[in-house]
Amino acid sequence: MANYKEFSKQNIPVINQKMYDFLEEASESDVLFDSMVYSLDAGGKRFRPLLLLATVSFFGQSLENAHYEVAAALEMIHTYSLIHDDLPAMDDDDLRRGKPTNHKVHGEALAILAGDSLLTEAFALVASMEIDSSVKIELIRLLAKASGSEGMIAGQVEDVLGEGKKITLRELQKMHYKKTGMLIQFAVEAGVLMCSQSFEMKKWLLEYAQNIGIAFQIRDDLLDVLGDEKKIGKKTGADEAHNKNTYVSLLGIEGATKAFENHCELATESLKKAKDMLNQTEEQTLLEMIIEELKVI
Ligand code: IPE
Ligand code: IPE
Ligand code: MG
Ligand code: MG
Ligand code: MG
Repeated sequence: MANYKEFSKQNIPVINQKMYDFLEEASESDVLFDSMVYSLDAGGKRFRPLLLLATVSFFGQSLENAHYEVAAALEMIHTYSLIHDDLPAMDDDDLRRGKPTNHKVHGEALAILAGDSLLTEAFALVASMEIDSSVKIELIRLLAKASGSEGMIAGQVEDVLGEGKKITLRELQKMHYKKTGMLIQFAVEAGVLMCSQSFEMKKWLLEYAQNIGIAFQIRDDLLDVLGDEKKIGKKTGADEAHNKNTYVSLLGIEGATKAFENHCELATESLKKAKDMLNQTEEQTLLEMIIEELKVI
């Protein structure tokens, strides 16, 4: 595979099609379907599903229907988390993925329901997969753990209740891991599980994923200050306006950049261990390219 951009271009349409086909089949209401598709169609980098597919490719395995189905389910959960994150009761944002936020267009009730539906149907999609049942149950368990009250939702609770409150760097790192890192980690863990890798391989790649996950949210915090609204598709300055605890509010831009670089470095080191175990000689695998991709701010 030549590069990450090419990999994205080839795979994003397949991921999108899986989501649309499943949701269309599952939707009783056109209005609800339109509201879900509005947010999915708005674009987004598809970082998490691509990371899952890149993990499968790392083991030299070809991408199959089941990998795309889990990737699609993961993106559905991520998109639901964004719709709810933007609601007036949460971050109260007007712009997402370069378009007005879901509730601005479809109203709050439908935005809440579109999020609920994306979450629910993501699990229905995984449950409907034709794969070994024990792998399927484990995928469902891991996805629930990463997105639920131990994972993303737990992080969102800490984020919202922490507005205006002082927290330590350690607490912030834990919050970032939960609200963003755990779904990113699921992408890698799902790939490892579906490719039946060893415990040790899993250990190194999960370490890689944990660092990528925290780096991803630090980058997001930095972009809220330094980013170009047109490029990131959302309003900047929102974190400060809400007195959010971010790497920038705790450490400043320079400190946050250093922390970001440090997590990228740790991710590279863990990945090197995984590569050595596989005798992987490819100079730059997609998993390395993903780290490089993140560094472009
Ligand atoms: C934004 O996620 C929210 C975070 C968890 C930081 P992304 O930066 O992946 O957003 P999209 O999917 O590309 O829109
Ligand atoms: C969101 O974090 C994390 C989620 C789980 C959705 P942010 O609130 O910083 O994400 P953006 O900046 O709105 O995309
Ligand atoms: Mg938020
Ligand atoms: Mg937000
Ligand atoms: Mg943010």
